[in-house]
Amino acid sequence: MPGRFITFEGIDGAGKSTHIDAIAERLREAGATVLCTREPGGTVLAERLRELILHAPMDALTEALLVFAARRDHLQQVIAPALQRGETVLCDRFTDASFAYQGGGRGFDVTVLADLERWVHAGIQPDLTIWFDLDPAVASERRVAARAPDRFEQQGIAFFQRVRDGYRARMEAAPGRFVRVDAQLERAAVAQQIAAALEARGW
Ligand code: TYD
Repeated sequence: MPGRFITFEGIDGAGKSTHIDAIAERLREAGATVLCTREPGGTVLAERLRELILHAPMDALTEALLVFAARRDHLQQVIAPALQRGETVLCDRFTDASFAYQGGGRGFDVTVLADLERWVHAGIQPDLTIWFDLDPAVASERRVAARAPDRFEQQGIAFFQRVRDGYRARMEAAPGRFVRVDAQLERAAVAQQIAAALEARGW
């Protein structure tokens, strides 16, 4: 694929969303055509699935199948064509979130997730994943002021500790793809860490 695929991960409240627009702007100034998208979501079908995933009670297997169903549509309709056109795709969450939330948080079988990943990705992997790592207790304080919590945001610290461990395991399995940023630092310092990661790749 001629384009670049960059994903952003972290537990709820880690603050990743506020950085994505700034990164898009920086890459555009450097001449890239940038597409910003998110998961679950990014297509009409996947956004409808997102509503169910975030709000409808369901068991862990159903949840895993739905996040990957949404991802399949998103990859096929949006991400793969953009990468084929040579664009830079910035995606707010991707498959590492399934390993962290469904695998870590819910305790769902990661070997099944790995099978779904292989089926759904059809060889596509992010070129770079920025992991906003934050202590779940700090993230929980940051979330207090936020709007009505969804099914994931309602979970307690222990759930988010498992999600964090899930992200750490994914980073350890693919260290070349990941950059961990310390999301407890102030915004400008986090932005600087991300800029350094992009510069290191000549982006
Ligand atoms: P999020 O991206 O944090 O959106 P917002 O900032 O609007 O809350 O919310 C998406 C939620 O979905 C988040 O709690 C993590 C969860 N999620 C999964 O459980 N598995 C997945 O594969 C993905 C992509 C997200």
